[in-house]
Amino acid sequence: MKTKRRDIDVRAFNRMAWDKNVEAGNPWTIPVDAAVIAAARRGDWEIILTPTKPVPPAWFPDLAGCDVLCLASGGGQQGPILAAAGANVTVYDNSPRQLAQDRAVAEREKLDIRTVEGDMRDLSVFAAGAFDLIVHPISNCFVPDVRPVWREAYRVLRRGGALLSGFNNPVIYLFDPDKEKAGVLEVRFSLPYSELETISEEERARHYGTDAPLEFGHTLQDLIGGQIDAGFVITGFYEDTFPGELISDYCDSFIATRAVKQ
Ligand SMILES: C[S@@+](CC[C@H](N)C(=O)[O-])C[C@H]1O[C@@H](n2cnc3c(N)ncnc32)[C@H](O)[C@@H]1O
Repeated sequence: MKTKRRDIDVRAFNRMAWDKNVEAGNPWTIPVDAAVIAAARRGDWEIILTPTKPVPPAWFPDLAGCDVLCLASGGGQQGPILAAAGANVTVYDNSPRQLAQDRAVAEREKLDIRTVEGDMRDLSVFAAGAFDLIVHPISNCFVPDVRPVWREAYRVLRRGGALLSGFNNPVIYLFDPDKEKAGVLEVRFSLPYSELETISEEERARHYGTDAPLEFGHTLQDLIGGQIDAGFVITGFYEDTFPGELISDYCDSFIATRAVKQ
């Protein structure tokens, strides 16, 4: 089922929506505290790409002097931890308020972090081969097309560099939201899912609120096949869950991959 496609500037809408999420205290906008940074300085650190599982330590290079791009990763979390662990960190995000969270931690902890506002599908502000590592936590559900993200990530990585990504398993976008609230998973939508055309504006507002970020459910062909098509070799994979979501009683609904530019 499709509704008439709405013509909205997704990037502008989601910038406003994520700025409002910062005001509202959404968990993905809360910066890490001083104890986390102090531990990271001692070499005791972890980060997440998905809701709960830490990224395996073996997925990281030596961070000393490593040029890291935290891609669509504002909020004062991954960026400050990696900087405290010794990396040269650039945080790139579409939300000025999310980037301000990273700057606030950097100032509080005397960390050197560069913040850049922009769209994850366009990294033209960075030269080819500028980074050794890209950390890309769940965020590509906020753009209608994910393949440009993989192509740009490939371009800005050095040979041997790795892209660590978290994303939704698109299965979460299949179900009727009314039935889900009543505890029933009933398939209603097909993939790819788009809040510009799969559901009406009225229904979206009723379920998620008018100011919620617009979401898109990409196919696995685009999420995993898209990385391979961009030139990456996938060398790591795990799944994760979101406790409290109905589907987590049946299967994991988040995926993380490690992809290398060889
Ligand atoms: C769930 S948060 C992820 C960041 C968080 N630090 C974490 O731990 O997961 C999603 C982020 O994606 C960013 N975002 C949404 N659309 C974007 C776009 N088109 N380009 C860059 N960033 C975007 C949002 O501003 C938000 O900071």
